[in-house]
Amino acid sequence: MSLPSSFANLRLPVIGSPLFIISNPNLVIAQCEAGVVGSFPALNARPASMVDEWLARITEELAAYDGAHPDAPAAPFAVNQIVHKSNDRLEHDVASCIKYRVPIVITSLGARPDINDAIHSYGGIVLHDVISIEHAHKAIERGADGLIAVAAGAGGHAGALSPFALVQEIRAWWDGPLALSGSIATGSAILAAQAAGADLAYIGSAFIATDEANATDGYKRAIVDAAAGDIAYTNYFTGVLGNYLKPSIRNAGLDPDALPPADPSKMNFGSEGLDAKKAWKDIWGCGQGIGAVRDVLPTRDLVARLAAEYETAVARTMRSAESYASRVAAR
Ligand SMILES: Cc1cc2nc3c(=O)[nH]c(=O)nc-3n(C[C@H](O)[C@H](O)[C@H](O)COP(=O)(O)O)c2cc1C
Repeated sequence: MSLPSSFANLRLPVIGSPLFIISNPNLVIAQCEAGVVGSFPALNARPASMVDEWLARITEELAAYDGAHPDAPAAPFAVNQIVHKSNDRLEHDVASCIKYRVPIVITSLGARPDINDAIHSYGGIVLHDVISIEHAHKAIERGADGLIAVAAGAGGHAGALSPFALVQEIRAWWDGPLALSGSIATGSAILAAQAAGADLAYIGSAFIATDEANATDGYKRAIVDAAAGDIAYTNYFTGVLGNYLKPSIRNAGLDPDALPPADPSKMNFGSEGLDAKKAWKDIWGCGQGIGAVRDVLPTRDLVARLAAEYETAVARTMRSAESYASRVAAR
């Protein structure tokens, strides 16, 4: 199945994924202008009244960009809604998405038919992120238009399944839009996501090390300096299993290799979600793919690097396929 028209104008098959605290209008606009889907969690706009301001700015600046670049307009943007019972802003933030006709809404931690219907009412589409096949079935039954498979090694809250297993089992029954996430930080990994059966790569941690991201210099440098072995998988900080930079856990006076079990009832994503905000400010979420991140760059340069690598990977893969085909033909 081909991707909906919302994904027209992509320079690369990539969604810049929503990042708590870190994604802001500067990052979203830079991602869309560079040709990949930009996104932000609605909860990043605080207080709640800021959501409308952010959406007004993003909509206006992207429209102006499109006017100035009619041959290469910006990619669409997305807003992430945390559909968790503790999110007391959900109705408000969904109303803002309807008002600004947000093209893509990404739902996490809960799938609700009424929210999906509300986004469909103006022609928007809903992608739901999942870490299991059970949740993938539920999301589609409840009306999501597409899925985001969050595999092992993804930054922030992450699953434990291999990307190959997750995509293979979803593709056995779902031929609609599918993005894959987890440690994707190079052009060849974007192509690998497509080869495995996904339509799009969903990339988070690599965008933290950009000029536009709302992260401290220490956090950005830590991403540049770290590699897969520096990532801890734990539910200690939010009650949900996720990946974090070990140096930030040590900075907080804890041993990342000996954390006690968590209390899931402490999870709070509401407007008073200060616990979550405090945890994510000092304990730095990060996926395993950041060994490929060597500099803090402007977002457009990061996307240009990914695009150049993607082209090289496509050419190399085609050469191998042709060489394989000619060997088979010669038999
Ligand atoms: C610091 C951080 C914050 C995140 N915040 C959110 C969030 O608010 N909502 C969400 O749906 N996903 C969130 N994620 C998950 C990402 O959207 C995405 O699944 C993940 O970054 C992809 O894996 P990668 O980081 O290895 O590229 C977060 C990830 C990180 C690293």
